[in-house]
Amino acid sequence: MAKSDTEVLKYRDESYDFRDTDTSWGVHGIHPYPAMMVYPIARRLIKEYSKEGGVVLDPFMGSGTVLVESILHSRNCIGADLNPLALLIANAKKTYIPAKKLYDSIVKILSKKENFEYSAPDFFNINFWFKEYVIDNLARLKAKISVIKDEDIKRFFLVAFSETVRICSNTRTGEFKLLRIKVLEKHNPNVFSTFERIASRNIKKLLETYNHQPHTSAEAIEADSRYDIPDLQPSAIDLVLTSPPYGDSKTTVAYGQFSRLSLQWLGNEEVTVDKDSLGGSPTESLDTDIPSETVRVIIGKIKELDSKRARQVLSFYIDLFACFENIKRYLKRGGYICLVVGNRRVKRITIPTDSIVVELLNALGYVHTKTILREIPSKRMPWANSPTNIIGAKEKTMNEENIIIMQKES
Ligand SMILES: C[S@@+](CC[C@H](N)C(=O)[O-])C[C@H]1O[C@@H](n2cnc3c(N)ncnc32)[C@H](O)[C@@H]1O
Repeated sequence: MAKSDTEVLKYRDESYDFRDTDTSWGVHGIHPYPAMMVYPIARRLIKEYSKEGGVVLDPFMGSGTVLVESILHSRNCIGADLNPLALLIANAKKTYIPAKKLYDSIVKILSKKENFEYSAPDFFNINFWFKEYVIDNLARLKAKISVIKDEDIKRFFLVAFSETVRICSNTRTGEFKLLRIKVLEKHNPNVFSTFERIASRNIKKLLETYNHQPHTSAEAIEADSRYDIPDLQPSAIDLVLTSPPYGDSKTTVAYGQFSRLSLQWLGNEEVTVDKDSLGGSPTESLDTDIPSETVRVIIGKIKELDSKRARQVLSFYIDLFACFENIKRYLKRGGYICLVVGNRRVKRITIPTDSIVVELLNALGYVHTKTILREIPSKRMPWANSPTNIIGAKEKTMNEENIIIMQKES
């Protein structure tokens, strides 16, 4: 059978695997975040598809990999995300702070002399997710950070606090979903020494990344990329570089679940990230006019097996198309869009998101330059999921991803 145009322009390139690179170098290793873009990919694409002084947009910014690489390579950058935890981490990672200020502050936070008024938060199920003494210590630690006046420094230490919350909670390590440790007797974390270790590591990472204020600007905006991005002018962008979610939060990566405990400790009572993300609510019907024949074929196949699942999957692609329509006006004519996407499986059917993205963007006036297939050496993605919703039944869903490059012609 003849290959489609999309397949002809798709090839494997081992130089994009970055097997021997420490992908947690510098600030890229501050705070875990699900499905992070590995920084050498961002770096290479920024250098290849934009110029110094140009403006890069990441509409699914996450922890800010593209923001950081942009300023490190003299580009300006705007990042948007609807997850407040992503905003906190990205803002901390892109902000240079002189070493002395950081060391002075950590000494104050860890000093035992000062007495602080503090009170523990009271969110739903707090005692299920944290031991009593951990709640008390986290509350004391947070009060000590909250008195810092300089907003950049306070944010920097709140990021270390958020990671401390994760480690000292009763959740299982290495999981992005909220799952509780089965045997809690042996889980007795020390809040202050955990914080000291994380904060000291973060200081080291910030200092190995920046030794002066970057010359270009990076702005992280809390926004839903399906709609207007506040203050962004039409045709302001030279390059869109992003890794969208792999699918709806419920059945792929639950950014909201991942962020919930940290956000609650940081004062966000209601966390609606998963509901608000792409594909957050299933469509009412299975009709769609989005310009992708592949979506129609795939939805037809999933519908035969599970109609609700088909509506969830469809809703994700409708929302993704809404983002593409919205972003288009910000990109200059002739500018490039580079997307890192994985092809997930639903009901044992592989969904070729890379072909779908090409079809959707073709319909909006972009021309496909190429798709690079890379293997993912890292073990940090939740590659295995449950194909049948049976706990423990795992299926390998993704160990490679596609880097799609397209140019805006009209
Ligand atoms: C694959 S992650 C991006 C990871 C990022 N490249 C990094 O290196 O950390 C996808 C991000 O899209 C965000 N997201 C989902 N729906 C969104 C929407 N409608 N508007 C803006 N961001 C959204 C999620 O909160 C998540 O942070």
